[in-house]
Amino acid sequence: MKKVAFACMISLSLAGPSLAQDVWVTVDNDVLNQVQTSLDSSYQTIHTAQGASLLKLDAQKVESLANIIHDKLHRCGGFIAHESYQEAFDSISYQGEMYFSKSVAFLNYKINQQKAVNSMVPQLEEMKIREMIIKLSSFKTRHHKSQTGLESTQYIHDEWKKLISHRTDAKVELFTHRGTPQPSVILTLTGSESPNDILVIGGHADSLAGFFGGANSTAPGADDNASGIATMTETLRVLMQNGFQPKKTVMFMAYAAEEVGLVGSKEIAQQFKQENKNVLGVIQFDMTLFKGTADKDIVMMTDYTNTAQNEFLGQLIDEYVKVPWGYSRCGYGCSDHASWSNAGFPASMPFESNKGDMNRHIHSAKDTLQNSGGNASHALKFAKLGLAYLVELAN
Ligand code: BES
Ligand code: ZN
Repeated sequence: MKKVAFACMISLSLAGPSLAQDVWVTVDNDVLNQVQTSLDSSYQTIHTAQGASLLKLDAQKVESLANIIHDKLHRCGGFIAHESYQEAFDSISYQGEMYFSKSVAFLNYKINQQKAVNSMVPQLEEMKIREMIIKLSSFKTRHHKSQTGLESTQYIHDEWKKLISHRTDAKVELFTHRGTPQPSVILTLTGSESPNDILVIGGHADSLAGFFGGANSTAPGADDNASGIATMTETLRVLMQNGFQPKKTVMFMAYAAEEVGLVGSKEIAQQFKQENKNVLGVIQFDMTLFKGTADKDIVMMTDYTNTAQNEFLGQLIDEYVKVPWGYSRCGYGCSDHASWSNAGFPASMPFESNKGDMNRHIHSAKDTLQNSGGNASHALKFAKLGLAYLVELAN
């Protein structure tokens, strides 16, 4: 069988404490079926909920499981290993909420900010996005446990801080995590009329390369996910340049440690849920650089996302971005939008291509700007969408 050219990371909670002898793993039905035929009897099915199962597995077998999924299903990830039975159980119990959040009420909203959006969209610059991708991918790695992983989040913090330096209603903070030494970066523009209503635009700050995804491998992560961070940053730059003052609160988030199991976003979304924060919508930018599908520019992932918000994004694309778009699915909680969906909030993930046409260089030293076409013109479309999303919904 042909080997897939890019490496997968093992979706084990590497961020957690030491590895116990038994690992609690959650998988979907496709993986469960494959495990039943391919893995020896060293696992136990503990619990099955709608579409997901909890398995107890010898820690030594995690690698075999990753290999089976990779070789037979041609997928990276596809399972999540948890530190405790309780965490694993909670995560499949969330499946109910996953469907709930798919259909959770999304704002009943009609596009009405044409004047503001149409004047700002032309100010978005491909070159600015490209420059930030070059800068972020010049860190040897942004691995969540590396020194340069810390430096790169500090860099994002400092860039964002510069963009809001003239504002008294804005702040940038580092969010410290339990599960990783890497902080997330959170920028808040406080709403002038309903500050308790929150919109979140996010992407992950970390990168990863190599089968075991160590902190020493070279991981430029230009597409995955310097592109998402640079895309959001360009949206922020133009909003600030135009004195954008949202009525609702807008938060920009660069999440830590996504690549090792959505660690940063999971902690943030769970905290927001516990604090009963009113998050009205979440948009995730993870990979916006590589144009892999000829006849579609923006592809909305349909799993772990909110159907009504996805449709609304389609309307925004038609109105403001004017590019062909469609739907695809990851097949598992492939990025930080899943953390928000699992916490019961409406989330969407507009992606660079159909899943099947994705950039094959991610998670390797080859995930460079050059290997995604050498410019950020594809990412620019997502910056337009992000800008339209915020200006329409926050006003
Ligand atoms: N950017 C990827 C997710 C992705 C890859 C989305 C391909 C769509 C197509 C993300 O950074 C990632 O690698 N996620 C992990 C899963 C996560 C739970 C650790 C993955 O896909 O293996
Ligand atoms: Zn990613």
